[in-house]
Amino acid sequence: MACDDLSVNIEHWDRTDDQLIRIAELYAEAFAEPPYGDDRERSLVEFPDRVRHYAEVKPEFRLLVATEGQALFGFVLGTGIGPGDWWWERLNTVLDTPTRTEWLEPQQFSVAELVVSPTRRRSGVGRALMHRVLVGLPYDSALLACYPDAVAPQRLYSSLGWVVIDPHARVSETQPTQIMGIRLP
Ligand SMILES: CC(C)(COP(=O)(O)OP(=O)(O)OC[C@H]1O[C@@H](n2cnc3c(N)ncnc32)[C@H](O)[C@@H]1OP(=O)(O)O)[C@@H](O)C(=O)NCCC(=O)NCCS
Repeated sequence: MACDDLSVNIEHWDRTDDQLIRIAELYAEAFAEPPYGDDRERSLVEFPDRVRHYAEVKPEFRLLVATEGQALFGFVLGTGIGPGDWWWERLNTVLDTPTRTEWLEPQQFSVAELVVSPTRRRSGVGRALMHRVLVGLPYDSALLACYPDAVAPQRLYSSLGWVVIDPHARVSETQPTQIMGIRLP
């Protein structure tokens, strides 16, 4: 599918290792940057394994890539989550009761990763990917996690209607994480 307002295509991952390696390179570069500071080499190994695992076991697995000709410069990854899933169980533990009651559902969508290449940022690619990944889902809501000091994604998500449901969730031992949610049409 071509984005109407952009000269980029957004397609599903073609399920080849070759394209997955290119996606992993984008991921590793982006999350080596502040405020994340992840180890690049480790990301290059772990990310493809995680994607293959998700593709096998998670419902509504979606890995969409933004391309233009041979260039691949953005992607979004998301899946369905529910009881028994690590991430859902973690949210079930850390969210307070009113937030859990309002937002945590037996089956819902989770946006796990969104990256746009530094050379293509601020041209609407992230917005287009986020819009597309939520189309036609069989769920009433979606959730995501974001570093509290990651300004770009927070502004992007807010501009798309996502709301902060927990600004300082203790999902990991490193630093508090901001949890955001959106109601799906
Ligand atoms: C977050 C990210 C995906 C945004 O991608 P993008 O293609 O640049 O985003 P868009 O061009 O679609 O921006 C849409 C809106 O988001 C907001 N936004 C995006 N980048 C911003 C920035 N650096 N500062 C402030 N607002 C920003 C703006 O409101 C923007 O609209 P505008 O350009 O009309 O003002 C990109 O910065 C990125 O890959 N960052 C590193 C990885 C990351 O942090 N991923 C998210 C993890 S939670």
